[in-house]
Amino acid sequence: QLRDNTVIVVFGASGDLAKKKTYPALFGLYRNGYLPRDVHIVGYARTKMDDKEYQKRTTAYIKNPNDDPEIAAKIEEFKKISTYVSGGYEDSPSFQNLAKHLQSIEKNYPSRETNRLFYLALPPSVFVPVATHTKECCYSSMGINRIIVEKPFGKDLDSCRELLSSLKQSWKEEETYRIDHYLGKEMVKNLLVLRFANVAMGAAWDKNSISNVQISFKEPFGTQGRGGYFDEFGIIRDVLQNHLLQVLSILTMERPVSFSSEDIRDEKVKVLRAIPPITKEDVLLGQYVAGNNEPGYLDDDTVPKDSVCPTFAATVLRINNERWEGVPFILKAGKALNEAKVEIRMQFKDVTQGIFKDISRNELVIRIQPSEAVYLKLNSKTPGYSFRAIPTEMDLTYKRRFTDTKIPEAYEALILDALKGDHSNFVRDDELDVAWKIFTPILHWIDGRAGPRPRPSPYPYGSRGPKELDSFIEKQGYKRPEADYSWPTTNLS
Ligand code: BG6
Repeated sequence: QLRDNTVIVVFGASGDLAKKKTYPALFGLYRNGYLPRDVHIVGYARTKMDDKEYQKRTTAYIKNPNDDPEIAAKIEEFKKISTYVSGGYEDSPSFQNLAKHLQSIEKNYPSRETNRLFYLALPPSVFVPVATHTKECCYSSMGINRIIVEKPFGKDLDSCRELLSSLKQSWKEEETYRIDHYLGKEMVKNLLVLRFANVAMGAAWDKNSISNVQISFKEPFGTQGRGGYFDEFGIIRDVLQNHLLQVLSILTMERPVSFSSEDIRDEKVKVLRAIPPITKEDVLLGQYVAGNNEPGYLDDDTVPKDSVCPTFAATVLRINNERWEGVPFILKAGKALNEAKVEIRMQFKDVTQGIFKDISRNELVIRIQPSEAVYLKLNSKTPGYSFRAIPTEMDLTYKRRFTDTKIPEAYEALILDALKGDHSNFVRDDELDVAWKIFTPILHWIDGRAGPRPRPSPYPYGSRGPKELDSFIEKQGYKRPEADYSWPTTNLS
C-alpha cells in the first residue's frame, strides 16, 4: 500500500548518516521500483549549497563498482527527483520556506492528496525543535504524515521519557517510526519464522534444553572520527541497550497472536518486563588500547585524555519467566576487536552422561552478519570403522542456499515499511521505557553517579577483548567447545 503523491523530506541531509545510509537506501528502493510513483526527495540542512552540489553529495556513497551503465542512468534519474532546501532547525521562517518548496512540488501532482514522510537524520539536540516546527509548518492536511526518528532516544530512563513526551506533543504514536536498524536486518526478521514456523526449533526453545545464550557484536574498527559522539554514550548505549536488546526480545518472546505490529510488540514488551535491571556484578567493561599498529581509544583527538568510557561491554541478563528462568543471556559488544561479526549462540545443555563422556554440546548459531547463516552443531559418528562421535553441523548458509537472492540493506527494508505504514519493525514507546529500565542503573554507575567511575579493562586493538572475558562467560555456564572444531563455512564470501 504505497501512496502516490509522496514527498520524502530528509532532515540532516548533509550529515554522515544521511550520506552513508539514508540516501543509498532511498536509491536502492528507487532503483528497484519500490518508491511511490512520482516520489520526490527533499533534503534539508543548515549547509548552504545548490541542488547540484547536494545531488553530488547524496549520491557519493551509492555503489556502482563496475560502472554499470544501467545503475549510472538510474543515479541520474534519482538526482532529478531530489532537491534541496537549506535552513535552520530552530526557527519557524525556515520551515515555512520548506513548506513552500513542498507545495511547489505537490502542485504538479495529479490529485490533491499529498503525503509526506519526514526522516530526521539529526543529532538529538535538535530532534524536538525540528519535530515541532515540522508539525506546525509542514504538516499535510490532505494526506498522510509520518516521521522517522533515529537513536539516541535519551541517555537514561528519565531523559528518554522527557524526549518522548516532548515529541508526542506534536506527533502521534501511530505517525512515529523509531528506527533501530537491527530490526531491518534479514536474519533478525527471520527469527520469527525460524522460531514459530518450526516445531523442531520451538521444542528446544526453553530452559529445559538451553544452558546459556550469547548475543555478540564485534567490530574490527575503533571510533575513528566519531570519538566525540561516542565518548558521551559508550558502547552500552550505542549497541547493547538498543540493537542487542531488540534481538534478545524477539529471540525470547512468546508466540504473538498474529504478525500484526501491535501483537508482536506486545510480546516483546512482555518479555522485557520480566528482565530485572542488570547489576554491577554482571558487567565486564573494556576500553581498547593501541595494538597491531592501530591507535588506542585515548589516542583519538576527539576523546578526552582521561576518558573511562567503555568501548567493550559484556552483561548478563536474566528473564524471570517460566520459559527462561535460570538461563543467562550474555549480551556483549566491542569496537576494535579481531573480526566483524554479529551472531546469536544458543548453547544446549549437556547430553545425558553414561554412554557418552566429555562430548561437545549442541549449539545453534544464528549468524546475523556478515554472510547470513543458521547452523546447528551436532555430534555425529565418525564415518568408517570408528564409533567415536565428532562435532559436525547442519548448515543453512544463505549464499549457498539462496544463490540468486539479493538481501536488502536494513535501511531499505525499514524505509519501505514506513512508507507502507507497517510498524512491526519499529520501536514502540513502551519498549523503550522497559529497555531503559534494564540498563539505567548500571549506566548511572558507569557515569559515576554513585561514586567513582569504574575503570574499564584495557584490551589491545584487534584482540578478542579484555582478558577477563573467557572466565566471565564460563562463569555463566558456557562450555568452550573442543579446540579443533571450527565452522567450515566461515570464510564463504
Ligand atoms: C550504530 C552504532 O547504531 O550501529 C555504531 O552507532 C555501529 O557504532 C553500528 O557501528 C553498527 O551497525 P551495522 O549495521 O554496521 O552492524
